[in-house]
Amino acid sequence: MAKEKQIFFCRECGFESGKWMGQCPGCKSWNTFCEETITVGAKKQSDRRDAVAPTSILEVQTSDETRFSTGLEELNRVLGGGIVNGSLVLVGGDPGIGKSTILLQMCRNLSENGYRVLYVSGEESLSQIKMRAERIGTFTKDMLLLCVNHLEDVEACIKKNPPKVIAIDSIQTMLVEDVPSAPGSVSQVKEVTARLMQIAKQMDIAVFIVGHVTKEGTVAGPRNLEHMVDTVLYFEGDRNAGFRILRAVKNRFGSTNEIGVFEMTKTGLSEVNNPSKVMLDGRPVNTSGSVVVCSMEGTRPILLEIQALVCQTNFNLPRRTTVGLDYNRVNLLLAVLEKRAGMVLAGCDAYVNIAGGFRLDDPAADLGIVAALVSSFKNKPLEEHLVAFGEIGLSGEVRGVSSAEQRVNEARKMGFQTCIIPKSNKENIKTADGIQVIGVSNIREALEYLC
Ligand code: TYD
Ligand code: MG
Repeated sequence: MAKEKQIFFCRECGFESGKWMGQCPGCKSWNTFCEETITVGAKKQSDRRDAVAPTSILEVQTSDETRFSTGLEELNRVLGGGIVNGSLVLVGGDPGIGKSTILLQMCRNLSENGYRVLYVSGEESLSQIKMRAERIGTFTKDMLLLCVNHLEDVEACIKKNPPKVIAIDSIQTMLVEDVPSAPGSVSQVKEVTARLMQIAKQMDIAVFIVGHVTKEGTVAGPRNLEHMVDTVLYFEGDRNAGFRILRAVKNRFGSTNEIGVFEMTKTGLSEVNNPSKVMLDGRPVNTSGSVVVCSMEGTRPILLEIQALVCQTNFNLPRRTTVGLDYNRVNLLLAVLEKRAGMVLAGCDAYVNIAGGFRLDDPAADLGIVAALVSSFKNKPLEEHLVAFGEIGLSGEVRGVSSAEQRVNEARKMGFQTCIIPKSNKENIKTADGIQVIGVSNIREALEYLC
């Protein structure tokens, strides 16, 4: 006999418990337990077990056309070269960042190429979607809309006439009838995702799910949602600035770190094919504290401007603020500057910013950060057509970075004339016509060239 039971779930990690707890033993976060009703017992014994047998890897058949294009190059790149048949993709991001828009645009392109596409919305009505769609462009009859909240309705629809791609907007508004708790709750989100996973794998349909994010920036619902799906994409960027960056944080079918850059326009999202140009637009010339670095985002080099402001502090404890960079990394570099380059920064506030609302994790930016700090400290502008990159170690050494040649080429393509790079990388650079490449082995050497 099936019966209902009250269970407590952690909203962050999905930890289950019979009683309420203040702190989750799984992820150590506080006050995240919520009560939900689940159905237990009465599971049928399946008699399929005998029929299951392993297959030799040599006998597994793959079809040639396993990927197909979304019609948006930037999205294809982030997905690892296009949509994989039967994959489950989670798209997360802040409200209003453009998740619904990008999926609608993708669906439009796919339907134009003759694929049947089903767009399921639990948030908007048919006419609201149509209004949005009219801004984006014209659609064909292969683009099907469904405004329901019950997953069972979606399943019935799919069974009747299976589409090639399904978009679910959003997972937090979907519910299955077997689970008694409200839509958006941990057990609902988990169950809906598991059912969508089954649909994707069994029927070979690519499924895209929109997920809302929490204040902390992770997809709302249990963290293990990210483990269940094949690919997790995050849409980020400043909502007020026009640029949106789509980042793959997990991808079973391609590399992560890959990014796609978009701009929100009146007619939907448009692709930015040359992000370096956009990121350097409006760069101040002849100003101290501004340096251009080259960061690798997946397989693509992007030039970015790092800005630093170093000024006398009015307090006992100097203030350090970073935007778009790791705070601790900047503190570490300030300490290296004090100890290894003999600069007294203890009495200075330091602010470091990446222009354009970009977030930078590449350690190759270290040399750029240091150069910007020193330039601002000495109030001396750097050469205008200069790019610097390299990782800095605690003893002040400049260490080699990956893909140095690609970075130098990007700098040359964008019209830069000098590149300051790690000495160990310089030896491996074969072609450097039209750009002067200077190899440095430690921070003192670098600062001699810079200012
Ligand atoms: P939306 O895709 O609804 O965001 P999400 O689904 O992530 O919550 O994006 C909505 C924002 O984008 C909204 O502020 C309006 C803006 N927008 C445009 O500027 N141009 C357009 O063509 C569209 C469709 C939306
Ligand atoms: Mg939306």
